[in-house]
Amino acid sequence: MTDPAVHKPWSGVFREATDSRLEQFTESISFDRRLYEHDIAASIAHAQMLASVSLLSADECQQIVQGLEAIRQEIEQGQFPFSVELEDIHMHVERALVERIGDVGRKLHTARSRNDQVSTDVRLWVRAAIDELDRLLVEVQRAFVERSTRDRDCILPAYTHTQRAQPVLAPHYWLAYCEKFERDRGRLADCRRRVNVSPLGTAAVAGTSLAINREETRTRLGFDAVAANSLDASSDRDFALEFAFVCALIATHLSTWAEEWILWSTIEFRFLKLPQAFCTGSSIMPQKINPDVLELVRGKTARVVGNLQALLVLVKGLPLAYNRDLQEGQEPLFDTFDTVRSCVEIAIPVVAGAELNREAIAARLELGYLDATTLMELLIARGVPQRTAHELVGRLVRLAMERSVPLAELKPADFSAAHPALDNSVYDVLGVERAVTAFRSYGSTAPAEVDRQLARWRMRLGLDRRSAAADDGSDGFELDSVLPPEEGRHS
Ligand code: ARG
Repeated sequence: MTDPAVHKPWSGVFREATDSRLEQFTESISFDRRLYEHDIAASIAHAQMLASVSLLSADECQQIVQGLEAIRQEIEQGQFPFSVELEDIHMHVERALVERIGDVGRKLHTARSRNDQVSTDVRLWVRAAIDELDRLLVEVQRAFVERSTRDRDCILPAYTHTQRAQPVLAPHYWLAYCEKFERDRGRLADCRRRVNVSPLGTAAVAGTSLAINREETRTRLGFDAVAANSLDASSDRDFALEFAFVCALIATHLSTWAEEWILWSTIEFRFLKLPQAFCTGSSIMPQKINPDVLELVRGKTARVVGNLQALLVLVKGLPLAYNRDLQEGQEPLFDTFDTVRSCVEIAIPVVAGAELNREAIAARLELGYLDATTLMELLIARGVPQRTAHELVGRLVRLAMERSVPLAELKPADFSAAHPALDNSVYDVLGVERAVTAFRSYGSTAPAEVDRQLARWRMRLGLDRRSAAADDGSDGFELDSVLPPEEGRHS
């Protein structure tokens, strides 16, 4: 039964006590307690602003701030009592404040509502979550870049349709993931701009008739701007949806990586040895070494994508402004962050600790005619139309298949019979190692290009100091990643 001693803040108009079943159904304290730190920070900023516009005296403000700080400590030490009767974190903190400092505490909720309060708290929480994820993504990038240096000379097949396509240097693979995570970091930074806007002071829905100073709370809480429309601000959860989308994309990128490494660690591929400290065994098959971590990274992507879906459906069709439905958005949001953070955290040691199985890779590298496209391009460079060159090389591949040999083992006469331009210099581009060195274009797997990109990443991630000569005050990164060198500043 409801404790009659717990008096609801809205009880003035009510003539009946709240049913405990309602309390169980509507509570959010079981999950929004994790907002406590932000709730208290926002309340302190709000009280200080109220004092500077004379809605609180300096002494009242001091009592409130000290009381809130004591409550924060109590929560941090695990001594704070939580109860569903007080519904959410906002009411818990306020009630505890009144219990500590008496009637002065009843002034804190001046010119504010739980509607702008919850939006402020969630924004502060998402902002911190963005900064944490960004830091972790840099760690994953560093792991890929460090192993790019280690694996610099290893050649791998690149696949399209999961069929062998062309040869690439291993770092070309690793830096591909760095690019994906770099875009994710860019999306986080962009999302952060819209997160970092203060709704505090928009109150319930229409603002307040009291002479508050929203600019002051904005500054105190480190927000970049003040939300301009109270109807919009108290209902807006775009920022949370954006964050959930960016997280879903991060999870999707991790899932691609996980899927690839699961395949690569099979006996069928034998490209990778996963670190055993991050593998599991089977309870029945003694020989098994399973990639469960990677499978769970792939699997957890499903719930992160599901959370995004839940949030989109949640806000679809809500009229302005605050509706209690919005409370349902908090759990998927928290779960998205917790899940993606755990995936990124576990990815770091797996990326760093896996070893390429160089012998097994090399032993089968000449399978699949990875050099065929390079041979075709040699013909094109010698003036043969692409369609013709494609057809000619296709026939040479068929001949090699019939003899069960790689292209490099066809005879000079086979090549010259196919086309007079195919003299003995064809052997300069045949074989996977030679084919790799034949690449030229910006962004390709050309060794010089991979080295340039690797150097750029090492500098970017603080793994190498830039040379004094190259130091023009910017790292030239954004420009470099969109412009080929001929058009870029460093041409
Ligand atoms: N627990 C609520 C939420 O998460 C706080 C805001 C409640 N506002 C209200 N008018 N009931 O949305």
